Amino acid sequence: MEVEQTLILVKPDGVQRGLIGEIISRYERKGFNIIGLKMMQLTRTKAEELYEIHKGQSFYDKLIEFMTGKPIIAIAVEGKNAIKLTRLINGETDPLESKPGSIRGDYSTDITYNLVHASDCAKNAKSELAILFSSEELY
Ligand code: CMP
Repeated sequence: MEVEQTLILVKPDGVQRGLIGEIISRYERKGFNIIGLKMMQLTRTKAEELYEIHKGQSFYDKLIEFMTGKPIIAIAVEGKNAIKLTRLINGETDPLESKPGSIRGDYSTDITYNLVHASDCAKNAKSELAILFSSEELY
């Protein structure tokens, strides 16, 4: 089993709905270590870097507006198989597929306003962590 680091975001809807504690507790309960944590408002530049692969998609502009409109919580998480397991905790992007017991399955019905983000592979985890955290901010 590989110890991995990954980036989690509590999106603006999660912050506004008062779900920060509920969401963070799920990664902690699973056994992951939180090695970086901050509240911030994403700049357009950072949001565009983060979602570069979605550029050109029909939902892209809405996604960037949403992610930059209100504060988010950025969390760096470390643990065994953290990349795959945090995505299981989050649930599927499609609300019709996200199962009860997952964060999205329990708290969201919307494909854009879906509360959380987690990096999808090791390469993206590394680059996304670097967009949100400097090395001094990780413990
Ligand atoms: P996330 O896991 O952060 O990755 C990309 C985000 O784009 C996704 O969560 C959703 O917020 C949004 N997204 C992905 N697919 C769609 C879609 N088909 N329609 C609207 N928003 C989407």
